[in-house]
Amino acid sequence: MRTEVAEAAAILARGGLVAIPTETVYGLAADARLEFAVRQIFALKGRPSNHPLIVHVDSLESARAWARSFSPLANRLAQAFWPGPLTLILPRSPLASDAVTGGQDTVGLRVPQHPLTLELLRALKTGLAAPSANRYGRISPTTAEHVRAEFGAALACVLDGGPCAVGVESTIVDVSTDQPRLLRPGGISKEALEAVAQQAIPHVTHATDLRVPGQVQSHYAPTAGLLLLDESALAAEATQRLAQGQRVAVLAREGLAVAQGATSFTVPADAEGFARVLYATLRLADASGAEVILASLPAAEGAGLAVRDRLLRAAAPRPR
Ligand code: TXA
Ligand code: MG
Repeated sequence: MRTEVAEAAAILARGGLVAIPTETVYGLAADARLEFAVRQIFALKGRPSNHPLIVHVDSLESARAWARSFSPLANRLAQAFWPGPLTLILPRSPLASDAVTGGQDTVGLRVPQHPLTLELLRALKTGLAAPSANRYGRISPTTAEHVRAEFGAALACVLDGGPCAVGVESTIVDVSTDQPRLLRPGGISKEALEAVAQQAIPHVTHATDLRVPGQVQSHYAPTAGLLLLDESALAAEATQRLAQGQRVAVLAREGLAVAQGATSFTVPADAEGFARVLYATLRLADASGAEVILASLPAAEGAGLAVRDRLLRAAAPRPR
């Protein structure tokens, strides 16, 4: 076993917290069986304690212990997409405590695709409860440096697995009932899910029976204001705001001309590429000292659905 993995395993085994790399974003992990450890996650994040956490496991076989049952559809999706950026909501087994599930009768499960975290999970032989490793409501981290910037000395161990390959969180599908529903678009596209499911999986944006921070309207937010515009309107808006003396950053697709004087951040034209750099770019735009970030939405297909969802939430009015 790699030394840094052994160190992380030792901390987790005695109830400590470790930031773990995954293919989506970094997670803030605790042994999911240790309630006192799980409660520390909520304290460090500043997250309401009734918000459920995802349990990360090393395989479908390990996942079975955390759920009362896997429907045929759940089995099919798990076989097709694990390890990978898919979280399945299933009826919980007694292993999944109220601390993890927020008192709901379901549990979120996923097998992440990252060699370091898979090695850690195999060594520990338990599930790791882990939300994204950011303070509540803020931008999710896609590098170890982001996690350190977020928590500093309050978090002793960050397992550095490099930059995340997907860049946005996992897709969440509720398969705990007969009617599957997409609760959060993410790293696996709706099209890919439906192809395997061979049925429609509707995107439910306001599930009234759930407490889901991913469904809290304002989320994933930079410090600067975020304004979403049609691509053709970006340059004119930037020019006007610059004339008013504002500090403006623009997220611009490769090849797009932006207003002179605006700080511009180039993002890949394809939605998958945009997803990969989205959070890091919002952080850079914040760090540039911009008061306002201008961006436009990709088309609502493939990885574009997740990017749109995160941008719309980041731009939503914020509670004060
Ligand atoms: O990609 C990811 O999913 C990352 C990495 C670290 O795995 N994790 C992540 O965790 O995004 P978090 O806590 O930031 O978001 C998890 C989402 C929340 O919206 C939570 O409400 C939902 O999963 N969730 C977890 N368990 C649930 C359950 N039993 N029922 C409904 N939603 C659930
Ligand atoms: Mg999160």
